[in-house]
Amino acid sequence: MLTARDEDGNAMEEDELHDELITLLIAGHETTANSVAWAMYWIAQDADVRDRLVAELRDPAVQTDPADLARRPYLTAVCNEALRLYPSAMMSVPRRTTEATEILGYPVPANANVYACIYIAHRNPKVYPDPLRFNPDRFLDRQYSPYEFIPFGGGVRRCLGEALAVFELRLVVATILREFAVEYADDQPERPVRRGVNLTPERGVHLKRTA
Ligand code: HEM
Repeated sequence: MLTARDEDGNAMEEDELHDELITLLIAGHETTANSVAWAMYWIAQDADVRDRLVAELRDPAVQTDPADLARRPYLTAVCNEALRLYPSAMMSVPRRTTEATEILGYPVPANANVYACIYIAHRNPKVYPDPLRFNPDRFLDRQYSPYEFIPFGGGVRRCLGEALAVFELRLVVATILREFAVEYADDQPERPVRRGVNLTPERGVHLKRTA
């Protein structure tokens, strides 16, 4: 960022650099860290999921090239299912109506802030049968539309960091599971709570290394 120049050759001002760093920290770091924590939580809770994922990731035929690893189908399904159940960003950023309108029969006045609730959309039983169950297979069985699976929002103002976040999430999970055997190290389930705009584990996800 320090070396970046715009089309007129100007560097960023100090307050612009500050804003960029805050964006990375708030929009980028916390959201991705929570998503890794939730993914590891579900994996450690369910021995079948864990064993199947470990088998996929440790298959000697699997390339260790990061881009290749991040494309593994079951890893993709597991990470998507974690983003579905506890989407780190529960809501989109708001859209403001420029005129009075109607959404699904509900009148919305002009100049209203409208948020999409990602958390609720991801628990719609018509789209996700048995919605509270962590079931990565649903992502192998069918393709969800950009109106159904929206952990990164949608439209022109969707998350700018989606590709980076998805890559990070899958690589961190894959690296942990390729290197270590882990177990859930708590006697109670973890509750999601809000921290700022993020949906985060209340106490933190405690894992125990078993090998
Ligand atoms: C798993 C991790 C992440 C999740 C779940 C997430 C989720 C979201 C969501 C739901 C939005 C609102 C989109 C909308 O209203 O349609 C958003 C916006 C945004 N995200 Fe992310 N995000 C993640 C990671 C990142 C990363 C790594 C970066 C940057 C490196 C980033 C940068 C941004 C920015 C700049 C916006 C605002 C875009 C705009 O208003 O045009 N996010 N994110």
